[in-house]
Amino acid sequence: MSDLANLEQRALSELNATDGEESLRAWKTRYFGEQGEVTLALKNIGKIPGPERAAYGKECNRIKASLGEAFEVRQQAEKDKALERSLAEPPIDVTLPGRRPAHGRLHLATQVMRDIRGIFADLGFQVYRSREVEDDEHNFGLLNMPPHHPARDMWDTFHTMTPGVLLRTHTSPGQIHVMRQFKGKPIRVILPGMCYRYEAITTRSEIQFQQVEGLAIGSRVSMADLKGTISAFARRMFGEERQVRIRSSYFPFTEPSIEVDMDCIVCAGKGCSLCKKSGWLEIMGAGMVHPTVLKNGGYDPEQFTGFAFGMGPQRIAMLKYAIDDIRQFWGNDLRFLQQF
Ligand code: DAH
Repeated sequence: MSDLANLEQRALSELNATDGEESLRAWKTRYFGEQGEVTLALKNIGKIPGPERAAYGKECNRIKASLGEAFEVRQQAEKDKALERSLAEPPIDVTLPGRRPAHGRLHLATQVMRDIRGIFADLGFQVYRSREVEDDEHNFGLLNMPPHHPARDMWDTFHTMTPGVLLRTHTSPGQIHVMRQFKGKPIRVILPGMCYRYEAITTRSEIQFQQVEGLAIGSRVSMADLKGTISAFARRMFGEERQVRIRSSYFPFTEPSIEVDMDCIVCAGKGCSLCKKSGWLEIMGAGMVHPTVLKNGGYDPEQFTGFAFGMGPQRIAMLKYAIDDIRQFWGNDLRFLQQF
Protein backbone atom coordinates (compact mmCIF):
# COMPACT_ATOMS: atom_id res chain seq x y z
CA MET A 1 0.00 0.00 0.00
CA SER A 2 1.36 3.44 -0.86
CA ASP A 3 2.26 5.86 1.92
CA LEU A 4 -0.66 8.08 1.01
CA ALA A 5 -3.22 5.30 1.13
CA ASN A 6 -1.81 4.21 4.44
CA LEU A 7 -2.05 7.75 5.76
CA GLU A 8 -5.67 8.06 4.69
CA GLN A 9 -6.73 4.80 6.30
CA ARG A 10 -4.92 5.52 9.54
CA ALA A 11 -6.40 9.00 9.73
CA LEU A 12 -9.91 7.71 9.08
CA SER A 13 -9.76 4.97 11.67
CA GLU A 14 -8.31 7.36 14.26
CA LEU A 15 -11.05 9.84 13.45
CA ASN A 16 -13.68 7.21 14.05
CA ALA A 17 -12.05 6.36 17.36
CA THR A 18 -12.18 9.96 18.65
CA ASP A 19 -14.42 10.55 21.60
CA GLY A 20 -15.52 14.07 22.43
CA GLU A 21 -14.46 17.49 21.29
CA GLU A 22 -11.03 17.40 22.78
CA SER A 23 -9.82 14.28 21.01
CA LEU A 24 -11.36 15.64 17.81
CA ARG A 25 -9.30 18.77 18.13
CA ALA A 26 -6.15 16.72 18.77
CA TRP A 27 -6.86 14.72 15.64
CA LYS A 28 -7.14 17.87 13.58
CA THR A 29 -3.81 19.15 14.78
CA ARG A 30 -2.18 15.79 14.13
CA TYR A 31 -3.22 15.76 10.46
CA PHE A 32 -3.97 19.35 9.50
CA GLY A 33 -1.83 21.38 11.92
CA GLU A 34 1.34 23.17 10.83
CA GLN A 35 3.34 20.00 11.25
CA GLY A 36 0.33 17.76 10.50
CA GLU A 37 0.78 14.71 8.29
CA VAL A 38 -1.55 15.93 5.53
CA THR A 39 0.04 19.38 5.58
CA LEU A 40 3.51 17.85 5.22
CA ALA A 41 2.35 15.54 2.43
CA LEU A 42 1.06 18.55 0.51
CA LYS A 43 4.31 20.43 1.09
CA ASN A 44 6.11 17.38 -0.28
CA ILE A 45 4.52 17.63 -3.74
CA GLY A 46 7.30 19.82 -5.09
CA LYS A 47 9.94 17.28 -4.15
CA ILE A 48 8.39 14.38 -6.09
CA PRO A 49 10.22 13.55 -9.36
CA GLY A 50 8.55 14.94 -12.46
CA PRO A 51 6.63 12.01 -13.97
CA GLU A 52 4.99 10.97 -10.66
CA ARG A 53 4.34 14.43 -9.35
CA ALA A 54 0.96 15.04 -10.97
CA ALA A 55 -0.54 11.78 -9.76
CA TYR A 56 0.89 12.28 -6.25
CA GLY A 57 -0.43 15.81 -6.07
CA LYS A 58 -3.89 14.79 -7.21
CA GLU A 59 -4.01 11.99 -4.65
CA CYS A 60 -2.83 14.35 -1.88
CA ASN A 61 -5.58 16.81 -2.64
CA ARG A 62 -8.21 14.11 -2.82
CA ILE A 63 -7.13 12.80 0.59
CA LYS A 64 -7.12 16.31 2.01
CA ALA A 65 -10.69 16.85 0.76
CA SER A 66 -12.03 13.53 1.90
CA LEU A 67 -10.44 13.71 5.37
CA GLY A 68 -11.68 17.28 5.72
CA GLU A 69 -15.18 16.20 4.90
CA ALA A 70 -15.03 13.25 7.27
CA PHE A 71 -13.87 15.62 9.99
CA GLU A 72 -16.82 17.95 9.42
CA VAL A 73 -19.27 15.08 9.64
CA ARG A 74 -17.70 13.86 12.84
CA GLN A 75 -17.68 17.38 14.31
CA GLN A 76 -21.34 17.87 13.51
CA ALA A 77 -22.13 14.56 15.22
CA GLU A 78 -20.31 15.78 18.35
CA LYS A 79 -22.30 19.02 18.34
CA ASP A 80 -25.58 17.13 17.97
CA LYS A 81 -24.63 14.92 20.87
CA ALA A 82 -23.82 17.94 23.07
CA LEU A 83 -27.15 19.55 22.18
CA GLU A 84 -29.05 16.39 23.01
CA ARG A 85 -27.27 16.15 26.32
CA SER A 86 -28.18 19.70 27.29
CA LEU A 87 -31.79 19.21 26.23
CA ALA A 88 -32.05 16.14 28.40
CA GLU A 89 -30.96 18.15 31.48
CA PRO A 90 -33.67 19.69 33.65
CA PRO A 91 -34.74 22.93 31.97
CA ILE A 92 -33.97 26.39 33.38
CA ASP A 93 -37.12 27.94 34.80
CA VAL A 94 -37.11 31.34 33.17
CA THR A 95 -40.24 32.32 35.09
CA LEU A 96 -38.47 32.28 38.48
CA PRO A 97 -38.26 35.81 39.95
CA GLY A 98 -34.77 37.27 39.80
CA ARG A 99 -32.68 37.80 42.91
CA ARG A 100 -32.59 41.42 43.94
CA PRO A 101 -29.07 42.76 44.34
CA ALA A 102 -28.51 43.85 47.94
CA HIS A 103 -28.54 47.64 48.30
CA GLY A 104 -26.42 49.26 50.98
CA ARG A 105 -27.72 52.17 53.02
CA LEU A 106 -26.44 54.64 55.55
CA HIS A 107 -26.32 53.33 59.11
CA LEU A 108 -28.87 54.95 61.40
CA ALA A 109 -26.03 56.44 63.46
CA THR A 110 -24.60 58.05 60.31
CA GLN A 111 -28.00 59.41 59.28
CA VAL A 112 -28.60 61.01 62.66
CA MET A 113 -25.06 62.37 62.77
CA ARG A 114 -25.68 64.00 59.38
CA ASP A 115 -28.97 65.47 60.59
CA ILE A 116 -27.19 66.97 63.60
CA ARG A 117 -24.37 68.36 61.47
CA GLY A 118 -26.94 69.85 59.09
CA ILE A 119 -28.82 71.63 61.87
CA PHE A 120 -25.67 73.09 63.40
CA ALA A 121 -24.32 74.04 59.98
CA ASP A 122 -27.45 76.15 59.52
CA LEU A 123 -26.70 77.78 62.89
CA GLY A 124 -23.21 78.67 61.68
CA PHE A 125 -21.19 75.92 63.34
CA GLN A 126 -18.16 74.43 61.58
CA VAL A 127 -17.33 70.74 61.93
CA TYR A 128 -14.01 70.06 63.62
CA ARG A 129 -12.69 66.56 64.14
CA SER A 130 -10.16 65.58 66.74
CA ARG A 131 -8.32 62.42 67.71
CA GLU A 132 -9.84 59.39 69.44
CA VAL A 133 -6.60 58.37 71.12
CA GLU A 134 -5.84 61.13 73.59
CA ASP A 135 -3.47 61.89 76.40
CA ASP A 136 -4.47 62.23 80.02
CA GLU A 137 -3.70 65.92 79.86
CA HIS A 138 -6.29 66.74 77.18
CA ASN A 139 -8.95 64.29 78.33
CA PHE A 140 -8.76 65.43 81.96
CA GLY A 141 -6.02 67.81 83.06
CA LEU A 142 -6.62 70.74 80.72
CA LEU A 143 -10.36 70.34 81.29
CA ASN A 144 -9.83 71.38 84.88
CA MET A 145 -9.34 67.90 86.30
CA PRO A 146 -5.82 67.57 87.67
CA PRO A 147 -4.53 64.08 88.60
CA HIS A 148 -6.49 62.55 91.49
CA HIS A 149 -9.36 65.01 91.07
CA PRO A 150 -12.46 63.11 92.22
CA ALA A 151 -14.43 64.25 89.15
CA ARG A 152 -12.33 61.85 87.06
CA ASP A 153 -14.51 59.12 88.53
CA MET A 154 -17.32 60.33 86.26
CA TRP A 155 -15.53 58.72 83.30
CA ASP A 156 -14.41 55.08 83.40
CA THR A 157 -11.40 55.04 81.16
CA PHE A 158 -9.55 52.64 78.82
CA HIS A 159 -5.83 53.22 79.30
CA THR A 160 -3.23 51.99 76.79
CA MET A 161 0.06 50.31 77.77
CA THR A 162 1.76 53.67 77.23
CA PRO A 163 1.44 55.69 80.45
CA GLY A 164 -0.78 58.75 79.98
CA VAL A 165 -2.23 57.61 76.64
CA LEU A 166 -5.90 56.64 76.66
CA LEU A 167 -9.03 56.33 74.52
CA ARG A 168 -10.97 59.56 74.94
CA THR A 169 -13.97 59.22 77.20
CA HIS A 170 -15.72 62.23 75.67
CA THR A 171 -15.30 64.72 72.83
CA SER A 172 -14.55 67.54 75.27
CA PRO A 173 -10.72 67.34 74.86
CA GLY A 174 -11.42 68.56 71.32
CA GLN A 175 -12.30 71.94 72.90
CA ILE A 176 -8.64 72.43 73.86
CA HIS A 177 -7.41 71.43 70.38
CA VAL A 178 -9.83 73.86 68.72
CA MET A 179 -8.98 76.77 71.01
CA ARG A 180 -5.26 76.27 70.52
CA GLN A 181 -5.72 76.20 66.77
CA PHE A 182 -8.04 79.24 66.58
CA LYS A 183 -5.57 81.18 68.76
CA GLY A 184 -7.87 83.83 70.23
CA LYS A 185 -10.28 84.17 67.30
CA PRO A 186 -14.04 83.65 67.87
CA ILE A 187 -15.10 80.00 67.68
CA ARG A 188 -18.31 78.25 66.67
CA VAL A 189 -17.72 74.55 66.08
CA ILE A 190 -19.17 71.12 66.67
CA LEU A 191 -16.92 68.12 67.27
CA PRO A 192 -18.53 64.82 66.32
CA GLY A 193 -16.80 61.52 66.97
CA MET A 194 -16.38 58.19 68.69
CA CYS A 195 -15.73 57.92 72.44
CA TYR A 196 -14.86 54.98 74.65
CA ARG A 197 -15.59 54.06 78.24
CA TYR A 198 -14.71 51.08 80.38
CA GLU A 199 -18.30 50.42 81.34
CA ALA A 200 -20.70 47.53 81.70
CA ILE A 201 -22.66 47.11 78.46
CA THR A 202 -26.36 47.62 79.11
CA THR A 203 -29.43 48.76 77.22
CA ARG A 204 -28.34 52.34 77.92
CA SER A 205 -24.54 52.26 77.79
CA GLU A 206 -21.91 50.86 75.44
CA ILE A 207 -18.12 50.82 75.67
CA GLN A 208 -18.02 52.63 72.33
CA PHE A 209 -20.43 55.40 71.40
CA GLN A 210 -20.64 58.68 69.54
CA GLN A 211 -20.75 62.18 70.94
CA VAL A 212 -21.22 65.60 69.46
CA GLU A 213 -19.50 68.39 71.33
CA GLY A 214 -20.37 72.01 70.70
CA LEU A 215 -18.22 75.03 71.47
CA ALA A 216 -18.87 78.74 70.92
CA ILE A 217 -16.47 81.41 72.15
CA GLY A 218 -16.71 85.15 71.64
CA SER A 219 -16.59 88.46 73.39
CA ARG A 220 -20.13 88.38 74.83
CA VAL A 221 -21.38 84.81 74.49
CA SER A 222 -23.99 84.19 77.18
CA MET A 223 -26.14 81.53 78.75
CA ALA A 224 -29.05 82.93 76.71
CA ASP A 225 -27.11 82.11 73.54
CA LEU A 226 -26.62 78.60 74.84
CA LYS A 227 -30.30 78.14 75.58
CA GLY A 228 -31.34 79.64 72.25
CA THR A 229 -28.96 77.37 70.36
CA ILE A 230 -30.13 74.24 72.16
CA SER A 231 -33.81 75.14 71.74
CA ALA A 232 -33.29 75.71 68.02
CA PHE A 233 -31.57 72.36 67.78
CA ALA A 234 -34.30 70.50 69.68
CA ARG A 235 -37.04 72.04 67.55
CA ARG A 236 -35.31 71.25 64.28
CA MET A 237 -34.59 67.70 65.41
CA PHE A 238 -37.84 66.82 67.18
CA GLY A 239 -40.49 69.28 66.00
CA GLU A 240 -41.34 72.96 66.28
CA GLU A 241 -43.54 72.54 69.37
CA ARG A 242 -40.67 71.25 71.57
CA GLN A 243 -39.94 72.96 74.87
CA VAL A 244 -36.54 72.92 76.53
CA ARG A 245 -35.71 73.34 80.22
CA ILE A 246 -32.40 73.59 82.00
CA ARG A 247 -31.42 72.21 85.39
CA SER A 248 -28.28 73.03 87.27
CA SER A 249 -25.62 70.35 87.25
CA TYR A 250 -21.89 69.87 87.63
CA PHE A 251 -19.06 69.40 85.14
CA PRO A 252 -15.47 70.37 85.98
CA PHE A 253 -15.01 72.17 82.65
CA THR A 254 -18.08 74.42 82.83
CA GLU A 255 -19.28 77.00 85.33
CA PRO A 256 -22.20 77.18 85.70
CA SER A 257 -23.03 73.69 84.42
CA ILE A 258 -26.44 72.58 83.29
CA GLU A 259 -28.33 69.51 82.18
CA VAL A 260 -30.78 70.08 79.33
CA ASP A 261 -34.18 68.38 79.15
CA MET A 262 -36.78 68.49 76.42
CA ASP A 263 -40.50 67.90 76.97
CA CYS A 264 -41.37 64.29 76.23
CA ILE A 265 -41.99 63.62 72.53
CA VAL A 266 -44.59 60.98 73.34
CA CYS A 267 -46.74 62.69 76.00
CA ALA A 268 -45.63 66.34 75.57
CA GLY A 269 -45.05 66.72 79.30
CA LYS A 270 -48.02 64.82 80.72
CA GLY A 271 -45.98 61.81 81.84
CA CYS A 272 -45.66 58.41 80.20
CA SER A 273 -43.42 55.32 80.24
CA LEU A 274 -40.76 56.85 77.94
CA CYS A 275 -40.15 59.81 80.26
CA LYS A 276 -40.77 57.68 83.35
CA LYS A 277 -43.78 59.83 84.28
CA SER A 278 -41.61 62.96 84.59
CA GLY A 279 -42.73 64.59 81.35
CA TRP A 280 -39.11 65.40 80.43
CA LEU A 281 -36.27 63.71 78.54
CA GLU A 282 -32.61 64.46 79.14
CA ILE A 283 -30.81 65.39 75.90
CA MET A 284 -27.42 66.83 76.82
CA GLY A 285 -24.98 68.31 79.32
CA ALA A 286 -23.79 71.87 78.82
CA GLY A 287 -22.58 75.03 80.49
CA MET A 288 -20.44 78.15 80.25
CA VAL A 289 -16.81 77.28 79.57
CA HIS A 290 -14.84 77.39 82.83
CA PRO A 291 -12.31 80.27 82.99
CA THR A 292 -9.51 77.78 83.67
CA VAL A 293 -10.39 75.88 80.49
CA LEU A 294 -10.47 79.13 78.49
CA LYS A 295 -7.03 79.96 79.87
CA ASN A 296 -5.73 76.47 79.03
CA GLY A 297 -6.91 77.00 75.47
CA GLY A 298 -5.11 80.36 75.26
CA TYR A 299 -8.19 82.59 75.69
CA ASP A 300 -8.28 85.41 78.25
CA PRO A 301 -11.38 84.84 80.45
CA GLU A 302 -11.53 88.62 81.08
CA GLN A 303 -12.17 89.18 77.38
CA PHE A 304 -13.88 86.01 76.23
CA THR A 305 -16.80 83.89 77.34
CA GLY A 306 -18.12 80.74 75.77
CA PHE A 307 -20.62 77.96 76.01
CA ALA A 308 -20.15 74.26 75.43
CA PHE A 309 -22.39 71.24 75.25
CA GLY A 310 -22.05 67.53 74.76
CA MET A 311 -24.65 65.06 73.58
CA GLY A 312 -24.91 61.43 72.52
CA PRO A 313 -26.38 61.28 69.02
CA GLN A 314 -27.29 57.64 69.56
CA ARG A 315 -29.39 58.66 72.55
CA ILE A 316 -30.97 61.32 70.36
CA ALA A 317 -31.73 58.63 67.76
CA MET A 318 -33.20 56.39 70.46
CA LEU A 319 -35.61 59.13 71.47
CA LYS A 320 -36.50 60.03 67.92
CA TYR A 321 -37.11 56.48 66.72
CA ALA A 322 -38.26 54.86 70.01
CA ILE A 323 -35.28 52.46 70.19
CA ASP A 324 -35.08 50.81 73.57
CA ASP A 325 -31.61 49.25 73.45
CA ILE A 326 -28.39 51.10 72.55
CA ARG A 327 -26.68 47.77 71.76
CA GLN A 328 -28.72 47.62 68.56
CA PHE A 329 -26.46 50.24 67.00
CA TRP A 330 -23.34 48.09 66.71
CA GLY A 331 -25.15 44.73 66.89
CA ASN A 332 -25.08 44.32 63.09
CA ASP A 333 -28.58 42.92 62.95
CA LEU A 334 -29.94 43.76 59.49
CA ARG A 335 -33.53 43.33 60.67
CA PHE A 336 -32.93 46.34 62.91
CA LEU A 337 -30.81 48.40 60.52
CA GLN A 338 -33.11 47.99 57.53
CA GLN A 339 -35.91 49.79 59.33
CA PHE A 340 -34.19 53.13 58.90
N1 DAH B 1 -18.17 65.67 78.28
C1 DAH B 1 -19.41 65.43 79.01
C2 DAH B 1 -19.62 63.94 79.12
O1 DAH B 1 -19.11 63.20 78.35
C3 DAH B 1 -20.56 66.07 78.32
C4 DAH B 1 -20.48 67.56 78.39
C5 DAH B 1 -21.07 68.25 79.43
C6 DAH B 1 -19.80 68.27 77.43
C7 DAH B 1 -21.00 69.62 79.51
C8 DAH B 1 -19.73 69.66 77.50
C9 DAH B 1 -20.35 70.31 78.58
O2 DAH B 1 -19.09 70.37 76.60
O3 DAH B 1 -20.28 71.66 78.63
O4 DAH B 1 -20.33 63.53 79.99
